[in-house]
Amino acid sequence: MTQSSSPINFSCLVSPELSITDLSQSPPLRLGIMASGSGTNFEAIAQAIASKQLNAEVPVLIYNNPDAKVVARADKWKVPAILLNHRNFSSREALDREIVATFQAHQVDVVVMAGWMRIITQVLIDAFPNRLINIHPSLLPSFRGLNAIEQALAYGVKVTGCTVHLVSLEVDSGPILIQAAVPVLADDTPETLHARIQVQEHRILPQAIAILAQQLSTQCSKL
Ligand code: GAR
Repeated sequence: MTQSSSPINFSCLVSPELSITDLSQSPPLRLGIMASGSGTNFEAIAQAIASKQLNAEVPVLIYNNPDAKVVARADKWKVPAILLNHRNFSSREALDREIVATFQAHQVDVVVMAGWMRIITQVLIDAFPNRLINIHPSLLPSFRGLNAIEQALAYGVKVTGCTVHLVSLEVDSGPILIQAAVPVLADDTPETLHARIQVQEHRILPQAIAILAQQLSTQCSKL
């Protein structure tokens, strides 16, 4: 078989399909965001709100690393950022109790773990049942936990991607809302692959929030 000289097709499979969800009649969903690092996913949410693709607002961001770059992004978008440094808490539960209290004080409807690199506990899950979501850089259930991209490269998969899911107690598990598949290239490094995965993360995370908003509004209208 001869090798095709046509360029690699970088278009990615996203399921369910991306669509603009019209929730303009509902009050904006109040999102509490948790982030540990760079915060590009936080920024993707802020941009989706600003461009009216997502009917939401972000009353507060919680971060756990004092030097996290997400703080500068929060400043730019005028979102209050609160540092809850896990090193200052006696247990994971104690940290999660403070996270819950902070989000409740800001009347948050839905919590988004947008690059939150700490294990969470039942305390947080119970406070936001079916309203707590996480983004992970693999096609779950493959490659849970830390270094998902390095795990995928080491395994030699040819397709990987990213997943947004409702959060269960087990790390990186729970009902899936949306996934995007990303091809792995022969010369990929963790950095090049992560960069392509992040392009898709920034597309599917706002979409996942819109899907959840739709699910929640359907549940409410049935009550
Ligand atoms: C994202 O790639 C996200 O999928 C990953 O951290 C990165 C945060 O990027 N999350 C996890 O690995 C969680 N298990 P960001 O700070 O630029 O949004």
